[in-house]
Amino acid sequence: MATSVNGFSKLTKEQKITWLATHHFKDKEAGIEILKQYWNSDSKLQRLHDEFIENTVSNFYLPLGIAPNFLINGTYHTIPMAIEESSVVAAAGNAAKYWQKRGGFKAEILGTEKIGQVHFLYPGCSDKLKEFFKEVKPKLLEATLQITENMRKRNGGISSITLRDKTSDLPHYYQLHCTFQTQDAMGANFINSCLETIAKTFESELKNSDLLDSQDKELQIVMSILSNYVPNCRVRASVSCKIEELNGDKNMAPMDFAQKFVRAVEIANIEPHRAVTHNKGIMNGIDAVVLATGNDFRAIEAGAHAYAAKDGSYKSLSKATIQGDVFTFSLEIPLALGTVGGLTNLHPLVKLSLEILNHPSAEELMQIVATAGLAQNFAAIRSLITEGIQKGHMKMHLLNILNHLGATPEQKAYFTSYFKNKTISHKEVIAQFNTLKEKEDAQVPK
Ligand code: MEV
Repeated sequence: MATSVNGFSKLTKEQKITWLATHHFKDKEAGIEILKQYWNSDSKLQRLHDEFIENTVSNFYLPLGIAPNFLINGTYHTIPMAIEESSVVAAAGNAAKYWQKRGGFKAEILGTEKIGQVHFLYPGCSDKLKEFFKEVKPKLLEATLQITENMRKRNGGISSITLRDKTSDLPHYYQLHCTFQTQDAMGANFINSCLETIAKTFESELKNSDLLDSQDKELQIVMSILSNYVPNCRVRASVSCKIEELNGDKNMAPMDFAQKFVRAVEIANIEPHRAVTHNKGIMNGIDAVVLATGNDFRAIEAGAHAYAAKDGSYKSLSKATIQGDVFTFSLEIPLALGTVGGLTNLHPLVKLSLEILNHPSAEELMQIVATAGLAQNFAAIRSLITEGIQKGHMKMHLLNILNHLGATPEQKAYFTSYFKNKTISHKEVIAQFNTLKEKEDAQVPK
């Protein structure tokens, strides 16, 4: 039973586990054993993981899979994906192979601008504030020179600071809207440090300004924080080929395939219920690479969905067209990613994932990640408009069901072959498994 506890974070790891077992596990010994089973035998490596967060009691594994054969802008990439969903890596691999024979993927960066904002309330005269802002702006930049020094050496830094009047949306509400270039870093810490310095300087300069009377010197800084909505840090991935080349599906003519595909994307564009699932399929590919490369998938998710809703209703992130005899399928998505800093220099598997990707720059990683999203979306729509999603999904899920039933490696091999050309359902797998077990048990000499 859950109960309140004081000072939990101060307990040792063993004490935390004991507390957890006492209050939450029916079988204490078994629960503790499972937690410890997932500890790494290398105590230094385990400590590294323990220290990523507070109150670590164990590690939570996700499979790291590999999707090879991604031809992007003429170069092959092997993509690492961290994900638990059975069919995602297989689908990525299939889509990569499909497009490898049809010219591969193209990807281009549409922008790399990051955003941060100082949100504040100012009840004084708006015109005077605007005048004051013009005067103080160089001082705001000057105050951040130390923080931005290294980033400026790499051609990054603060690109702009503007004062935005939002008082028509919320009384007295203004922003210092700042844009940044953070090069190969995702830049969250850099941006937030700049913003906090800007906010402090703005407040103190306002208090000391000769331009303003005392009644116009009242200001409340509400918060200073980066925005995970970065529509100008965007990448486009696409595939394109002659319609006659869309001949990968035996039971559907290329033109029928192309038209049905375009229709499926059009539906996702106008129907939010479908758009959410359609975009979820894209994020299957995106998140898996984002996670494997130590980036912040929550930031990516939040920004992507905001972008999908930018026109006032939630829409497909991808587009499909037929122009003349050419089919084009593309995805535009904001992706603020980093290949230096954060977990990228710390987590051994993240470092290895970046090595698998040949140590990409942030821009290259944006292109790879967007391609993985497009590939995933292609694979999902292709299945949906041809044989349906369940065949491939259940094929991959079969092993999960068999593992759940405690199948031996021999039984798994038998059922993989048995279900090769049959419809797989949970019920049918259990029925066939029980039949086989009965047969096997009957053969065991008593
Ligand atoms: C499942 O994880 C993702 C799909 O539902 C995506 C889609 O429907 O496009 C298959």
